[in-house]
Formats: sequence, C-alpha cells, structure tokens
Amino acid sequence: MDQFQVKDKSLAPQGHLQIEWAAKHMPVLNIIKTRFEKEKPLKNHIIAACLHVTKETAVLVNVLVAGGAKIALCGSNPLSTQDDVAAALADSGVHVFAWRGQNTEDYYRCIEKVLDFKPTMTMDDGADVVGMLHSKRQEQIKDIRGGTEETTTGVVRLRAMECDNTLKYPIIAVNDAFTKYLFDNRYGTGQSTIDGILRATSVLLAGKNFVVGGYGWCSRGIAMRAQGLGANVIVTEVQPTRALEAAMNGLRVMPMSEAAPIGDIFATATGDLNVIRKEHMQKMKDGAILCNSGHFNVEISISDLEGLSKSKRTMRPNMEEYSLKDGRRLYLLAEGRLVNLSAAEGHPSEVMDMSFANQALCSEYIAKSDKLHTKVYGVPKEIDEKIAELKLHSMGIKIDELTEEQKKYLSTWEMGTT
Ligand SMILES: NC(=O)c1ccc[n+]([C@@H]2O[C@H](COP(=O)([O-])OP(=O)(O)OC[C@H]3O[C@@H](n4cnc5c(N)ncnc54)[C@H](O)[C@@H]3O)[C@@H](O)[C@H]2O)c1
Repeated sequence: MDQFQVKDKSLAPQGHLQIEWAAKHMPVLNIIKTRFEKEKPLKNHIIAACLHVTKETAVLVNVLVAGGAKIALCGSNPLSTQDDVAAALADSGVHVFAWRGQNTEDYYRCIEKVLDFKPTMTMDDGADVVGMLHSKRQEQIKDIRGGTEETTTGVVRLRAMECDNTLKYPIIAVNDAFTKYLFDNRYGTGQSTIDGILRATSVLLAGKNFVVGGYGWCSRGIAMRAQGLGANVIVTEVQPTRALEAAMNGLRVMPMSEAAPIGDIFATATGDLNVIRKEHMQKMKDGAILCNSGHFNVEISISDLEGLSKSKRTMRPNMEEYSLKDGRRLYLLAEGRLVNLSAAEGHPSEVMDMSFANQALCSEYIAKSDKLHTKVYGVPKEIDEKIAELKLHSMGIKIDELTEEQKKYLSTWEMGTT
C-alpha cells in the first residue's frame, strides 16, 4: 500500500519553513498541542482527512499527531495543494496523497487511498469523504466513530443526507461554530480572495466596479475588503434580508443581469451553481475578470464560457483569457475554483488558528463521547467559547466579567422601567 504520494519530495525543506511560519501565528493550536502531547486524547484513532493541503492544515495535522492520531490526508480541491507543504508532511511520516493540478480521477483516487488506511474518524472540507464512504465504501462505516465538516457547502450536503436518512454516522459541523464562520468565512475569505485576485491579475481595485455574488459570510467579507481598497461594490443576492443588509451597508444591490454590463471584476461565493452564466456573460464588458471563492467550481458556468468562446490562452499563472466569438475577451481566474486557495495561499494562519482549533477539539470530543447519534451536530458551546477565550488571551485582550448583580439582573424578568 502506498504510504504517500506528492509532487516532489525534495520540496520538503521549504515546506517545513512554511509550516513553522504558520505555527508562529496559530497560538490557540499551539496551546492545544501542548495538552494533546500529554493527554493523547486521539490515541488509537486513524483520521481520514480531506482538507486543503496548506501550511495551516499541516499545523493542524501536527496537533492531531501530537494527540496520538494517525493521519491519512488528501486535498479537498485539485488546485489548492501547496506542494512544498505536502512534501514536508510526507517527510514527517504523514500519509499524504495530494498535489496541485490533479485531474478529477486523481482527486477521487486520493480519497480512496486515504480510506484504505481504515479510519475511525473523518475530517472533511466539502463532504467528499463522507460521500465516498456512503456510496462506494459502505462496509467501512461501522468502524467510523464520527466526523467533522469544515465548510458551509459540506454542511449543506450533510444536512441534506440527514434529512433523507442517508447519513450513517455522526458529524460535527465545525463551520457552524461562531469562532469559525464569523472569522474564517468573513475575514479569511475576504482578505484571501482579494489576495488571490491581485496575485492573478495585478490590477488596481480602486475605482473598479466589483460585483460580489452573494452577501453571506464569505461574500460580505469579500465586499468589505474590496470596498476598503476603493472599489465600487455591487452585490447580487437571492435572500431579501441579506440584500437589505448589503443595501444598508451602503452597497448597490441589483440582479446579476443588471450588474453584468457594468462590472469590471466578478467574485462569487454563494455555494450555489451557475450564478454567472451565458445570459450574463453575453452582456459583460470586454476585459471583465471572473472568479469564484465558493467551495465548488460550479458558480461560474465554465461550459457556457467555453461555448461562447472561439479560443483561450493562458495570460498569466491562474488566468485564462477567453476570446469570445463576438470579439470580446473575458478573463477567468483559477479555472473557476476557489481563487483564494488556488491563486493565493488561502486564509491567513490567524483565522485558521480558530477554525482548526475547532477541528482538533471536536475530534477529541468525538473520541471521548459515548453517545453521539447519527446526525449533524453543532460545535459544543463550551468548545466555541473556550477557543474565543484562548484567542483573545493570545491577542493580549482582556474583557469584563459580569458582576453578581448583573448576572441576577440578566436572569430575571421582574425589573423593568425605573
Ligand atoms: N474560499 C474559501 O476559503 C471558503 C471559506 C469558507 C467557505 N467557503 C465556501 O463559500 C461558499 C459560501 O459560504 P458562506 O459561509 O458565505 O455561505 P452563506 O450561506 O453564509 O452565504 C451564501 C449566500 O449566497 C446567497 N446566494 C445563494 N444563491 C445565490 C445566487 N444564485 N445569487 C446570489 N446570491 C446567492 C445566499 O442567499 C447567501 O446569502 C460555500 O460554498 C462555502 O463552502 C469558501
């Protein structure tokens, strides 16, 4: 059985430096690691992890290993693996099966390789491991104690499985912790999406019409950071309350069909498909730039773009120029895959510190719990609050404590107007 498969093992020294740099910015995980080293809460567990193979993920892997787990890891996107990090993990003895630029067949084969290690827990980012176990590897499910899910789209898929009774083991929706989505989805995706767009295009954002598809946690982060760089932000939405929020945050809100002819840059993060499609592309300006930060590469219809085009060429790394039959050119970044992870390095370590602290502590929770049912759980409140406390502490921020009088006041109803 293969023990690992990476692009180039000789990249390991650079990967180790990257991991060291990330770890310096992940104080909460470092605290958890110190405790895990002593207590070994994950002893005898084998975790099948399908995550973006970044320097931050490597820090998480090291924490899980410190806790006694054996890890088999594959990438959760064909373009997001950092090859030097994958090499360093392989060098450290982790069973890693990931490289940047996988085709779809390689991608699913690596998930199978990870499952060959006979896991007792799963750790997903997009629910592809759960999907594989429930479709092709059902005989392994009895050995699985539980799993965790990192992202919104994965949680949506798992809740759909729970609803139609196909889910066969308990999952904790890490995405739904406050210390995950309020920071990772918003500030992480906000900053790293802009980072990806700038690395791929090097264009000025100030003064551009920047169209954001969605106004959820990720997309509002993108809108906020694009606005901060001087772009004129336009939001498209399907939920009235979210659209209203965008409008009251001073942003223009309109349907994609109206935004299409005026946008210079389009960034989607909706978790939905075909948010930008033929009818929109037909109206876009010559030179418009299109990208996506939602989990799957379905938000921009690439088949529509191909259908409208007569040729394409790679202009720069992570940027394809599509020449349309009518002479216009549209620029697609990172093949419509998560631009923040494909064209940049994903979220900064400081936010992944909290997301992955949730992963580590939820894995421990699964290992220690006897009575988890087959359902999608939220992250236990005490874990979420502990992570917020540790993060504040690491940032040197102190907060007030309720006085006894305030506790009493907040738990009674008798006192009203005085
Ligand atoms: N790039 C990353 O690193 C990263 C990080 C976290 C999450 N994600 C992914 O980003 C996506 C969004 O996650 P989120 O947490 O922001 O979800 P969310 O549910 O908070 O927001 C999604 C928003 O998109 C809107 N929407 C849905 N269909 C739409 C359409 N056709 N047009 C316009 N708006 C539409 C929804 O109404 C909602 O407000 C998911 O796929 C998630 O998995 C990516």
